[in-house]
Amino acid sequence: MSEDKPLGPPWTILKLLRWTTDFFKQKGIDSPRLDAELLLAHVLDVDRIHLYTQYDRPLIEEELSTFRALVKRRSRREPCAYILGSREFWSLELAVDPRVLIPRPDTEVLVETVLKLLDTDSAGHLVDIGTGSGAIAIAVASERPLLQVAATDTSEDALDLARKNASTHQLEERISFFEGDLLDALPGTWLPLDFVVSNPPYVEERDRDDIQPEVRDFEPANALFAGEDGLDVIRRLIPQARLSLRPGGYLLFEIGHRQAEAVRDLLATQDFEDIEIITDYGDRDRVAVARKPAASSA
Ligand SMILES: C[S@@+](CC[C@H](N)C(=O)[O-])C[C@H]1O[C@@H](n2cnc3c(N)ncnc32)[C@H](O)[C@@H]1O
Repeated sequence: MSEDKPLGPPWTILKLLRWTTDFFKQKGIDSPRLDAELLLAHVLDVDRIHLYTQYDRPLIEEELSTFRALVKRRSRREPCAYILGSREFWSLELAVDPRVLIPRPDTEVLVETVLKLLDTDSAGHLVDIGTGSGAIAIAVASERPLLQVAATDTSEDALDLARKNASTHQLEERISFFEGDLLDALPGTWLPLDFVVSNPPYVEERDRDDIQPEVRDFEPANALFAGEDGLDVIRRLIPQARLSLRPGGYLLFEIGHRQAEAVRDLLATQDFEDIEIITDYGDRDRVAVARKPAASSA
């Protein structure tokens, strides 16, 4: 199979998986076999596991031609999640497209940390700043039925998709969406907040040329980059959260693995307490947690 020529018969599932895996390897793709399986399962409309039980099944020309088109897109480093139109986050299927960042497994650490601080019957106000696909807001709302959840983004396109995802999971009545810059997006009636959570843009500008083509060339730049040191958004978020939280309220946000020290300093300068940095599944610094002093008036 070449990128442009039709597949030659007989192309069985096994043969196609082997060929595509090799092809993706040559193209520098990180998980060649997995991606080949995901794309083929999508074309055949079966679960991945079913591919293993039908290795000798030949594909018909229509299936081959659809698969060939997807392989071509992936070989140009378009992320699988955009090709398939969805990604699982917190065991919830979310629609994704190039208007939003693809939710990452490491962001589940942020969700876990938030949930540990909330009883199952907690009924406070939580805002997810820069909601993108809605991943964090939807995951938290799905786990805490009495919590009032708001989600904001500067991108109206992202909010459209986040609303759609909330509705897919029957959470459209539970999450309010607002367009705007950080906490300015939120109507005053939502204040004071019990939780401000965010996975903000935090990639350093100098990393632009080093990051994977999947990210650099396909994911929205405004979801990724935040100035020279990657802290431009976080630097503005911290004082805004300080003003919007109730005394004793929590601020939690994702950080880059080289940013822990700078972020600790920024939080301490704004008089946050109980500052903690939580590591991700790869043991890298990933989530900052801090509390507004309980006795604080402003
Ligand atoms: C890293 S993505 C996170 C998306 C989603 N929360 C997730 O974890 O998958 C950052 C999001 O913040 C939004 N964003 C960027 N600057 C913003 C700002 N100043 N105010 C609000 N949202 C912003 C981007 O549009 C993007 O959707």
